[in-house]
Amino acid sequence: MSTNNKINASITGVGMYVPEKILDNAYFESIVNTNSEWIVSRTGIRERRIIENGATSDLATGALKDLMEKHNLQADEIDVIIVATVTPDMFFPATACLVQDNIKAKNAWGFDLSAACSGFLFAFQTGCSLIESGRYKKVVVIGADKMSAISDYTDRNTCILFGDAASAVLLEPTFDTSIGFQDSLLHIDGQGKDVLYMKGGGSLNPATHETVDKKMHYIYQDGKPVFKAAVVGMADISFEVMQKNNLTGDDIAYLVPHQANLRIIDATAKRMGIGNDKVMINIDKYGNTTAATIPLCLTEYYRDGKLKKGDKLILSAFGAGYTWGATYLVWGMD
Ligand code: COA
Repeated sequence: MSTNNKINASITGVGMYVPEKILDNAYFESIVNTNSEWIVSRTGIRERRIIENGATSDLATGALKDLMEKHNLQADEIDVIIVATVTPDMFFPATACLVQDNIKAKNAWGFDLSAACSGFLFAFQTGCSLIESGRYKKVVVIGADKMSAISDYTDRNTCILFGDAASAVLLEPTFDTSIGFQDSLLHIDGQGKDVLYMKGGGSLNPATHETVDKKMHYIYQDGKPVFKAAVVGMADISFEVMQKNNLTGDDIAYLVPHQANLRIIDATAKRMGIGNDKVMINIDKYGNTTAATIPLCLTEYYRDGKLKKGDKLILSAFGAGYTWGATYLVWGMD
């Protein structure tokens, strides 16, 4: 065990919530001009989950309650709740406030963080910094999105891609600096604003009959340029964080990639020199759940007994903004 006076932030609990309702590829064949073979070969997605009654705060609360039950965490022990989301229940109050009230975390403060598909990585870095500062002992980071709320189910280019889910991690301090958060490289580039956005409803285009008629309250994506930028962005940043920390493909237990497209994930793994057996995948079951994908992978693989203490992980994401980044984390739970 390496120790010094430095405090590291380590994951000490995980939780998840996925709604029961499944939309499979056959369903999309019945509503838009598509076919399952195209969807699977171009994206890797077979199914996604959709919440029928509820909002992002319900997904997030479900994930946090799951974490609290499984890891014996009491609501009043929580210092901070950070919710990464692009589908908050409302502009304000923050979804974090709604989650705090749902579980009665009476000693917590918190906020929402908007970084689209990189939201979890950005929130994770923020949460780790709060722990490392020495001021907070229990920080909850939740990735939660109800993408069905902003998906146009007449647009085959986008509706097949997204699903609803939430997942949460608990961060706590450790003096064992060989585990927990080690490093991250994060970026934003507003040049991406023209190819992936939801333009309606904000201060630029407040909601009017016209914004509704023009379908401005849905996701718009120009898939090709986003795909190209994501392949390069995710692969390069993952490789860069490995190099910076003197890691080779052999050192890595898992790549934990944002689940937007299996082809983007494959390109990233290839660039890192790691085999498919060391890549966490659940895009086939859930599609792109935006801020939830990475913690959802961590939770499922941990619960399946596939993660062990000391495993070196590279978390990697790319999303709207553009936003992107990669995080080097050493798993700290048995
Ligand atoms: N079913 C059948 N055909 C479809 C389709 C669907 N669901 N969606 C699009 N197509 C069509 C297009 O209309 C296009 O037809 P055209 O050539 O006649 O115009 C054709 O398939 C090819 O489209 P293209 O954009 O080249 O497909 P693609 O291989 O790039 O795959 C995406 C499309 C959306 C899967 C891919 O671009 C992608 O994953 N983009 C990035 C997503 C991402 O990472 N986002 C960032 C985080 S959210």
